[in-house]
Amino acid sequence: MQNMRYITFALAKGRLAKKTLGILEKIGITCEEMKDPNTRKLIFVNEELKLKFFLSKASDVPTYVEYGAADFGVVGKDTILEEGRKMYEVIDLGLAKCRMCVAGPASAKKLLNSGEVIRVATKYPNIAKDYFYHKKHQTVEIVKLNGSIELAPIVGLSEVIVDIVETGSTLKENGLEVLEEICPLSARMVVNEVSMKMEQERILKIINDLKRELAKMDESQKS
Ligand code: PRP
Repeated sequence: MQNMRYITFALAKGRLAKKTLGILEKIGITCEEMKDPNTRKLIFVNEELKLKFFLSKASDVPTYVEYGAADFGVVGKDTILEEGRKMYEVIDLGLAKCRMCVAGPASAKKLLNSGEVIRVATKYPNIAKDYFYHKKHQTVEIVKLNGSIELAPIVGLSEVIVDIVETGSTLKENGLEVLEEICPLSARMVVNEVSMKMEQERILKIINDLKRELAKMDESQKS
């Protein structure tokens, strides 16, 4: 244990990190330091198990993992698709389930299929590009925004949006609806490609333990 290298986890800060830590705890991967709600620390260590954890902005998790600053990452499929980083996606954690959709006012449905060049506002320009250019073979103008995307069609910035829909309440409360579904989303565990070779044994044990735990959780939900 003394000379063992640390295995590092990059977690997307927020609700997802808390849920992820809850599941990791069930397979014996714990970090007491991280539970202090008042801490301003950025990196947390479990010396006994030689583990490190840090919280980062969701969109940075794939970057930390691709460069090997983290061995593991936990982040939404939306971020994985948008960032397009080189890494292995190893587990669908089934958390934070939602959908990536094209949405807008009902009246935009006709426009979407009219062949006219429409404007699409989104926080996810790469996902939008891939969907419209490569799947639908449709030319659109993509406008990048950083949040509250639903505003765009309301104030006339764009005809439609590409955004995450979870419960659908944000759309409904703003007079918008899902017009097309792009893909389902959920939180995934990702692994650095070099770590997978160099620390194969420890990494595969964590992956297999987690898979087993998730299957158990699935079974107990069904019964
Ligand atoms: C996300 C997403 C939608 C909303 C969907 O926004 O962009 O706006 O949640 O959830 P719902 O279908 O349950 O209403 P988030 O709260 O992450 O903030 P953002 O607008 O700044 O992206």
